[in-house]
Amino acid sequence: MRRPLVAGNWKMHGSRQSVDALLNGLVEQEWPEGVELMIAPPALYIDRCVGRLQGSPLSVGGQTCATQAEPGALTGEISPAQLRDAGCGYVLVGHSERRTLFGESDAVVCKKFAAALACGLRPVLCVGESQAERDAGQTADVVARQLQVILDAFGVGGLAEGVVAYEPVWAIGTGLTASPEQAQDVHAMIRARLAMLDDAQAQDVRIVYGGSVKADNAEALFSMPDIDGGLIGGASLNAEEFGAIARAA
Ligand code: G3P
Repeated sequence: MRRPLVAGNWKMHGSRQSVDALLNGLVEQEWPEGVELMIAPPALYIDRCVGRLQGSPLSVGGQTCATQAEPGALTGEISPAQLRDAGCGYVLVGHSERRTLFGESDAVVCKKFAAALACGLRPVLCVGESQAERDAGQTADVVARQLQVILDAFGVGGLAEGVVAYEPVWAIGTGLTASPEQAQDVHAMIRARLAMLDDAQAQDVRIVYGGSVKADNAEALFSMPDIDGGLIGGASLNAEEFGAIARAA
């Protein structure tokens, strides 16, 4: 049985004051049993979040990491070892904004996935197609390509140590949420592709959905058989809405 994950990606939002207010709101929420919960703040606030969330069911993750675990002359980078040292349990890798705005290739994403695993972090592999790719009927090909580089390196078992987040780029931050059926179609395609390689392990891989998840659409999305939770952007910046989404899982 896959334990659902509801994770918040705060992206580049927050100040010490607003982070403290959001954390105070989060610790006051009623969190559901049996749902794994995580928030990924800007790296500057990881320590603050880990400290404030001690004793709560929420864990903390990074939004990205360096391509290596070892220390090095990589100005501005944060290694997964440092994220782990700071108390993180997860790290997002290959978010579409990293891919499109910062030029992260599948090969770079794979290195980050590897470095995260090596440090005992659960990598959340973000995959998804653009509007143009969907319109061209390339969704399956794009997602398969993004998965394959990880499957070649780690197999289905490696993905099972992490999480797959299907985030159609056209639904991120747009309010254009994929319908439950649209999302389920892609999740089922991902699950089927993994099952062709290792059916038993494929059933253990958590595939969460991201892209304009809100309190009013979460239940319908999470009710789909191959949607194992969500990766929440904007709505995770509101403690009450993030709590409502988590309770829908
Ligand atoms: O990583 C989650 C994020 O990309 C989704 O953003 O604002 O559409 O929920 P949002």
